[in-house]
Amino acid sequence: MAFYTLRLRDDDVVEMLDQRKLPLEIIYVELKTYKDVYGAIKDMLVRGAPAIGVSAAFGLYLGAKSLLDLPEVNNYETFKKKFFDIAGFMFSARPTAVNLGWAVDRIKKLVGKEGKAGEKGREEDGSGSGLKDIVDLIRAESLKIYDEDIEINKKMGHYGAALLKDGFNVLTHCNAGALATAGYGTALGVIRAAVSQNKKISVISDETRPFLQGARLTTWELMEDGISVTLIADNSAGLLMRKGKIDAVIVGADRIASNGDVANKIGTYQVAVLAKENNIPFYVAAPLSTIDINLESGDEIPIEERDINEVVTVFGKRIAPENAKALNYAFDVTPNRYVSAIITEKGILYPDYKKSIADAFDK
Ligand code: MRU
Repeated sequence: MAFYTLRLRDDDVVEMLDQRKLPLEIIYVELKTYKDVYGAIKDMLVRGAPAIGVSAAFGLYLGAKSLLDLPEVNNYETFKKKFFDIAGFMFSARPTAVNLGWAVDRIKKLVGKEGKAGEKGREEDGSGSGLKDIVDLIRAESLKIYDEDIEINKKMGHYGAALLKDGFNVLTHCNAGALATAGYGTALGVIRAAVSQNKKISVISDETRPFLQGARLTTWELMEDGISVTLIADNSAGLLMRKGKIDAVIVGADRIASNGDVANKIGTYQVAVLAKENNIPFYVAAPLSTIDINLESGDEIPIEERDINEVVTVFGKRIAPENAKALNYAFDVTPNRYVSAIITEKGILYPDYKKSIADAFDK
């Protein structure tokens, strides 16, 4: 792969591929503060649930490091309070992808009293060396989250590839690829793994209005890797399914409830219903960090509403009458009855999801 989605450089700058500009421009942006990272998540310069989680972790490191420059931050309690404020701010960047909260909580735990970094903080003697140790631990943890994400995606690829037979035409919605993660991808990771086993897989990519993750990102990313991909308008999936041109659907997820209901990019639900109607398996590939075990069902998942300008304009050009009313929900929830299987790093989960998800967390 000739590109990378994001990385934390040795000089503590977060570098991100600006996904708003793809595929027409390949621009890496340098982010130097936690506020820059927050803005990048909010404005969707980086997007995709796991990539948002990794970005937040890097952002929290930049935030923690900036606290060392504040004279009033000279003891563990003050550091912790200010750091938790930054964590709360980062958490608010986008509401639906649970990986954001998951990464923030993981680092908060590290800094909290019971965490490894918390221990270091209590050793602080006023010289600042204990706080510097905490910040170093946060850096190491954020890089661990990054590395683990790629490793997990490869595991999902390994399990999920078994579901895709040689010669399959696979429909995907949005972008659940390397661009939505630290690398390799969730749904596209499964496709990559199948292709690497020399299976002939052809991908059909929904364009995914309004942000066009399918047209701009999935199509670009797969073409970069030499994987066969055909772009369709979102409203074409039903026709292709009826014509027998789709053998399986595979998508990622932003949050999965403990009963297997799946929140993913707006439009996923209608694809899932069409797949069931046409007896086509509908697979979801997602790491366990995307499963919100605290939620009984998808009804509890917060759905982000974005600026309607994303709907009434395309690349800054108005496509609807001035003052037209519009709605811009960014995600929908697919009830578990439409989900044939959930591919995780712990293996493939099947209904009854309440049980199989709980078992995966216990493994
Ligand atoms: O609004 P986005 O682009 O962040 O939405 C992304 C999706 O819905 C992806 O399908 C999901 O995060 C899975 S990414 C591996």
